[in-house]
Amino acid sequence: MLDRYALSLRGRSRTVGIIVPDDHKEQTVSDTNRQRIFSGVQPTGNIHLGNYLGAFRNWVSLQDSFDTIYCIVDLHAMTADYDPVALEKSRIETAKVLLALGVDPDRSLLYTQSQVMEHAELAWILGTMAPMGVLNRMTQFKDKTAMGVASNLGLYSYPVLMAADILLYRANLVPVGEDQRQHIEVTRDLAERFNNRFGDLFPIPDGYIPETSARVMSFTDPASKMSKSDAKEKSRILILDDQDVIRKRIRSAVTDSDPEVRYDVDTKPGIANLLEIMSACTGRSVDDLVDEYSGAGYGAFKDAVADAVLEELAPFKPRYKALTNGDVRAVLAEGGGRARELAGPYEAEVRKAVGIKGYR
Ligand code: TYM
Repeated sequence: MLDRYALSLRGRSRTVGIIVPDDHKEQTVSDTNRQRIFSGVQPTGNIHLGNYLGAFRNWVSLQDSFDTIYCIVDLHAMTADYDPVALEKSRIETAKVLLALGVDPDRSLLYTQSQVMEHAELAWILGTMAPMGVLNRMTQFKDKTAMGVASNLGLYSYPVLMAADILLYRANLVPVGEDQRQHIEVTRDLAERFNNRFGDLFPIPDGYIPETSARVMSFTDPASKMSKSDAKEKSRILILDDQDVIRKRIRSAVTDSDPEVRYDVDTKPGIANLLEIMSACTGRSVDDLVDEYSGAGYGAFKDAVADAVLEELAPFKPRYKALTNGDVRAVLAEGGGRARELAGPYEAEVRKAVGIKGYR
């Protein structure tokens, strides 16, 4: 199963410790010293196909072999303009979708960031070690402010809070999509700075990025990534969209005028995106799909992509409908309590190391 996610750096530099998932294949639930996974999602809007193929599918499959902690990062969501009532609803909604996708509270810890204030405390401590030069290079800050998000200190130090999320629990692996690569680099950098200055408390975490569909692109502009915040609804498929909507979105996906189905990110980004999506949903290689569909015409190819996506997403809506908000609140209450129990002693070690052991 994990073979499908074998890493391809596709020409990008190997600066981050992105691991080959196969390295961990032999791990089983009974391993005594299991590696820890941490990842997070912002409760902003609806979960889309990119989130699922880039990250959440791995969240689910990794539960069998790792100690998994998944967090709804509501403190991060406060860095852009937001409505407090909507934020409260989105936290529940996001958790509900994650449960429907297969995040299993018996095997994973699922909670919201604001339930564990140690995240914010550790972010402050790491922030005192984060050079302005490093934060000035963050492309997400530049992209978000260019899109009109008001710049504020929280948005600027967003990657430091993300580093705190990961390091708080001493995580080893972080399953994310390609867009989080730079944030993982900062996390590694801050962990090394901390360890050099105060002693080896933090493992240096690796990102875990899928081979195909690590960056699912927009259906209206295949040069930019599929995003929750894109004003155009047609740019994305939501996990809970109706079947006819999903088919329509794929049929109307922007492609090009050359009718040959071929994988070429530069000249045929729309088709390359659809090939990656279909490959991720079927487990077939892109080459294999090109062999089958090269002469089929875009109409038939898009129908086949839609079939594959519909099959992959089919189980989720019934599971979502079966969950109540009460169920979800209970899971988060339990998860938050367990996360606090874990985080407290870890953070006490950090406090001691940096000289603020104090009295609480
Ligand atoms: P967020 O909420 O934007 O996205 C959640 C996950 O979905 C992935 N993703 C994509 N993957 C492929 N194609 C796309 N178009 C696409 N869009 C989003 C993201 O890479 C992510 O894995 N900063 C994080 C949340 C965070 C976090 C953390 C993650 C906070 N603390 C600690 C890991 C560890 C974010 O905004 O994800």
